[in-house]
Amino acid sequence: MAESIKILTGNFDVPGIEQLDVYRKNGGYAGLEKALKQMSPDEIVEEVKKSGVRGRGGAGFPMGMKWGFLAKPEGVPRYLVCNGDESEPGTFKDHYLMMKSPHLLIEGMIISSFALGANTSFIYVRGELMYVINILEKAIAEAKAAGLLGKNILGTGYDLELVVQPGGGAYICGEETALLESLEGKRGNPRNKPPFPAVKGLYQCPTVVNNVESISTTPWIVLNGGEEYAKVGIGRSTGTKLISASGHVKNPGVYEIELGLPVEEFIYSDQYLGGIRDGHGLKAVVAGGSSVPILPKDLILKTAAGEPRLMSYESLSDGGFASGTMLGSGGFIAMDETTCIVRNTWNFSRFYRHESCGQCSPCREGTGWMEKVLYRIEHGKGNERDIDLLVDVAKKIEGNTICPLGDAAAWPVASAIRHFRDEFEWHVKNPEAATKKGAVYQPE
Ligand code: NAI
Ligand code: SF4
Repeated sequence: MAESIKILTGNFDVPGIEQLDVYRKNGGYAGLEKALKQMSPDEIVEEVKKSGVRGRGGAGFPMGMKWGFLAKPEGVPRYLVCNGDESEPGTFKDHYLMMKSPHLLIEGMIISSFALGANTSFIYVRGELMYVINILEKAIAEAKAAGLLGKNILGTGYDLELVVQPGGGAYICGEETALLESLEGKRGNPRNKPPFPAVKGLYQCPTVVNNVESISTTPWIVLNGGEEYAKVGIGRSTGTKLISASGHVKNPGVYEIELGLPVEEFIYSDQYLGGIRDGHGLKAVVAGGSSVPILPKDLILKTAAGEPRLMSYESLSDGGFASGTMLGSGGFIAMDETTCIVRNTWNFSRFYRHESCGQCSPCREGTGWMEKVLYRIEHGKGNERDIDLLVDVAKKIEGNTICPLGDAAAWPVASAIRHFRDEFEWHVKNPEAATKKGAVYQPE
């Protein structure tokens, strides 16, 4: 595939692009001018629908459809909330986008708020990223001084206040309803859905919650049209996607790829990850942040049907238990053959146990049990029944919880056992060898 079109990152390397004057000299805020002066809110929603762009936070829900669900009761305010909490392990693309080009997000926020009829909007940023919050606040002040925010934007009569809110410091605050609770000043506990935020969200008012990357596509869509956007990508996976790549690759970092790029090309081409670090072979990949199933080398390069695996919502999915869409948030973690899958699975499960909010029993108790059982297998104290016990606990969590954290905790465990059962068995049968420092199972 030729070099990807850059919808988001095309001018990220321009020195000073985080400043308003440089951003404007490079075409910034042209989308906003067009949206506010030449288009109605409904026309913008229509273009976003035509683009087919899907939520870039991880769920891949069509953004235009979500906007279409927004309730519009008379006299009730509506809100747009941008989810920049980004706490998914292996995911750092929103952080990168906000740091590099804060005005791209701000322009997207103004266009999207106008389209949705919101006059107060929020950007909820992971609390640890104070320097990103400072960058955004500086850019908001610049935009306000230039008449791009506040009262009567660009003389069109449209008013918008944009508030940056530091996050509550917990992974669960990135779940949209927990985020809304946190924004209201409460503990970040997820709410039951329905009602969805589009009907009852912030302060029980209709609210759209969109990811940073999703909102940042709107200036391009407004300028070029939804149909042009839909020509990029493959099938129902339209457009480009930011991928945060980490792990044992030669060139880790954030990449904007056209959806549909073969996974093999993404991993091995010098234009992207440049292959696996010297002298080692690929063992496994988690393609969409730690919440999605892990895939062994053979299945990440080709589907079970032998087709080349593509970076798309459809291709990165196999069906069946622990096989939801694996593109997720685009946190692409590559592991070479020096990785112990049992240790890695235990590590992920420690994270979910720690981050469970504790509201529902399957998640609260199940994450604890999975972590305990994985600990004993990893530390040479497991037995063969433990492996099936883990699968059983994971199955009992999946689909039985208020929010997706339960599934997110269950899938990595179930998929690791499905694809690397030999390695778990080796641990329980050879506790002495398996617990030696640096020991990794080698298939015969
Ligand atoms: P979801 O599939 O439940 O919902 C997706 C979006 O569509 C939500 O905004 C929801 O309100 C909306 N929606 C769905 N059906 C609707 C309806 N009938 N009416 C109105 N709105 C509707 O998924 P969710 O819980 O938002 O996200 C889960 C994903 O988040 C996971 O796939 C995971 O990959 C990702 N994730 C990302 C993280 C990050 O740091 N980027 C952290 C943790 C998880
Ligand atoms: Fe809390 Fe876990 Fe239930 Fe989500 S699934 S509400 S994190 S206990």
